[in-house]
Amino acid sequence: MRLIDESIRTMNSQLNATDQAHLRRALELAEGGRGRVSPNPLVGAVIVRDAEVIGEGFHAELGGPHAERAALEDCRRRGGDPTGATIYVTLEPCAHRGRQPPCAEAVLGAGLARVVVASEDPSEKASGRGPGILRDGGVEVAFAAGAEAAAARLLNQPFRKHARTGLPLVVLKQAMSLDGRTATAPGDSPWISGEQSRALVHRWRAEADAIAVGIGTALADDPLLTARHPDARQPLRVVFDSSAQLPLDSQLMTTLDQAPVLVVASPEADAGRISALRDAGAEVLVASGETPADRVGSALAELGRRGVTSLFLEGGATLAAAFVAAGQVDESRVFVAPVLLGGVEGGRRAGPVAVGDPPPPAVAKASSGVVPPTAPPARVAALESRVERVGEDTLITARLKEW
Ligand SMILES: NC(=O)c1ccc[n+]([C@@H]2O[C@H](COP(=O)([O-])OP(=O)(O)OC[C@H]3O[C@@H](n4cnc5c(N)ncnc54)[C@H](OP(=O)(O)O)[C@@H]3O)[C@@H](O)[C@H]2O)c1
Repeated sequence: MRLIDESIRTMNSQLNATDQAHLRRALELAEGGRGRVSPNPLVGAVIVRDAEVIGEGFHAELGGPHAERAALEDCRRRGGDPTGATIYVTLEPCAHRGRQPPCAEAVLGAGLARVVVASEDPSEKASGRGPGILRDGGVEVAFAAGAEAAAARLLNQPFRKHARTGLPLVVLKQAMSLDGRTATAPGDSPWISGEQSRALVHRWRAEADAIAVGIGTALADDPLLTARHPDARQPLRVVFDSSAQLPLDSQLMTTLDQAPVLVVASPEADAGRISALRDAGAEVLVASGETPADRVGSALAELGRRGVTSLFLEGGATLAAAFVAAGQVDESRVFVAPVLLGGVEGGRRAGPVAVGDPPPPAVAKASSGVVPPTAPPARVAALESRVERVGEDTLITARLKEW
């Protein structure tokens, strides 16, 4: 029988320090799959009998064994016997057959006596079914609460948002100067942040399913948007480009052999331009919607349907503003570099989030010299934030939502 929220709550156990330590190890193991298992979640597992760890494993590759089976396999390799043992797992064991057979079946088959779960699986096909089957099979099931449960949820934010909403998790990354500029002068290097920050950005790209920029950035910087990181899985490169004007000789279009490109165009885009991009090997998605924010929403829904669970949004300020207006920024990572860029005359050297066209003169006059934006984005407070040094830069990470 499937376990509903209420029955899961009654299984929230006060785990002892040993249980918590094994769950923390399972969480550490789960990290081994980062950047390689999506749209699946990161999962780690530890098997313990008589206070001894007899097996460890994690979900390492999409299509490969799940953590529970990997840990059981490790146990067998070590010559151990899992009968009567406890398995600590960061996500509830699945009950459905996907690319792999159900984990609940493996746990029952191995004769494990107890399963300690750090977080529930919010996806429709899971959510309590595995724990229900295990309990019906005579296995004791305990759910963690507190720090380990929170860490397990944070580990899988892309998976959890996608499971609950069908949309990818959006991480907005921006680099800005001391005077709040995110764009350099034409002809100047587009880089604002330092070398170490950029290396970190390449790692983040490799961990994401997709990277997005606006056509403003694609035209100004002609970026490659690949992940230059060892062993990187190349994400899908997405360009928000209403009129499908991405040049066929841009770096994005001439490197389709390295990573795919998807252009998000509007229904009004010229059919000839769309065909040219398609003929050259890009995918073109037509996103409808009244406002830029609506079009962000419809593009995200389509990306989600294609199994994209995480989108790394690299700007620029105009596209960032549309994502903020759509309420679709889940996490923000801002590098503040120790440089001044100046050059605000004419308003084109944007701050991190563009706030629309200047207001009509009457409104501007009433503002006693300060020009208010026409549609200021709503204030969004972070749930949690962190500040750290990366080389010469300061990185501010703010989590805005939790799934
Ligand atoms: N410091 C940083 O972190 C950073 C990061 C990236 C870029 N940049 C800099 O930012 C500058 C470019 O920024 P930008 O603001 O001019 O351009 P942008 O945000 O890259 O692109 C904006 C354009 O995207 C298109 N777009 C398509 N769908 C959209 C939607 N749903 N919502 C919003 N826009 C949509 C619009 O053009 P259409 O209507 O024609 O489609 C819009 O004008 C460059 O100088 C670049 O170097 C800085």
